[in-house]
Amino acid sequence: MSDTSTTLSLDALAADARVRVAACSSLADLEALKVELFGKKGAITAQLKSLGALAPDERKAAGARINAVRDEIGAAFEVRKSELDSIELERKLAAGRIDVTQPGRGQQPGGLHPVSRTRRRIETIFRNAGFSVEEGPEVEDDWHNFEALNIPANHPARAMHDTFYFPDGRLLRTHTSPVQVRAMLRDKPPLRMIMPGRVYRCDSDMTHTPMFHQVEGLVVDDGVSFANLKSVLHEFMQQYFERDLGIRFRPSYFPFTEPSAEVDIECVFCSGAGCRVCKQTGWLEVAGCGMVHPNVLRNVGIDPERYTGYAFGMGIERLTMLRYSVNDIRLYFENDLRFLRQFG
Ligand code: FA5
Ligand code: MG
Repeated sequence: MSDTSTTLSLDALAADARVRVAACSSLADLEALKVELFGKKGAITAQLKSLGALAPDERKAAGARINAVRDEIGAAFEVRKSELDSIELERKLAAGRIDVTQPGRGQQPGGLHPVSRTRRRIETIFRNAGFSVEEGPEVEDDWHNFEALNIPANHPARAMHDTFYFPDGRLLRTHTSPVQVRAMLRDKPPLRMIMPGRVYRCDSDMTHTPMFHQVEGLVVDDGVSFANLKSVLHEFMQQYFERDLGIRFRPSYFPFTEPSAEVDIECVFCSGAGCRVCKQTGWLEVAGCGMVHPNVLRNVGIDPERYTGYAFGMGIERLTMLRYSVNDIRLYFENDLRFLRQFG
């Protein structure tokens, strides 16, 4: 093999290799080409082997040229390999891409329960009117739930409460009014707060469930009057319903308020004409209220000669039913997703 032919075939070989390396479209093709050129029977290997046939003085220059081609092609392999590696990586990343903002397959995003929505709505309206929001325990003792609220043992009002008792005499609070007692024992007037939470009664029909939610309201200060109570509840109802529904204060009785009233809202199902939900009265009871009884103030160490206060207790489910025109309170506790999704 003459020097010229070696040079020519080496140049041709290098040019061909460059084109073929760049044309490889997979790591497997690239590996096969590497064997074809650099393997035992490879073309570049053959070139190196042919050096032995050259005269010693030619061997050095020819060897240097072959080595240069070998290094150049070797470098081209590395470049192409890293290109193919990153193409492969991109492909894998694209195939396995996870969009963490997508909802899970077959799952619906959650939403607030309509009762929670109403509770938050009520809290916002009262916060805007300068009330603070407080909470109290659901497991109560007789004193906070009854005694301090002017409901002594054997008082007939206890029968209205259908209380769940624990064997040790404690009970599940039957209303949020014991939180009033706790608040007045802890803080002194002026007081201006609402106290939402769960309450429990052994009671069940279209408008009653054994567990439900109330929001207690309490304002105690100098010169607080029934007129203040009336205007706050009226204003609240207008904001809550976003329309001017009929509202009435009906004289009533609670041992812990004097005078006492119940607040009725015009029935949203029959617009006051009378239906099954409102028991043909045209009205739905949403709250009890009144002026805090002097005995209650005395029980918590507030001077009834100096301060007066009003209190109210609203049913959150009732307000929710009225706002969304749902006629059976039990739907809120069955948690049928077909029902709950309508509030999403
Ligand atoms: C009370 O519980 C009094 N503590 C309210 C009160 C507070 C009066 C402060 C005066 C001063 P009553 O039992 O009426 O009162 O309940 C108040 C409201 O809770 C009712 O108007 C009604 O909206 C709701 N409610 C009562 N029982 C149930 C029940 N079983 N299921 C759903 N809501 C109920
Ligand atoms: Mg009542």
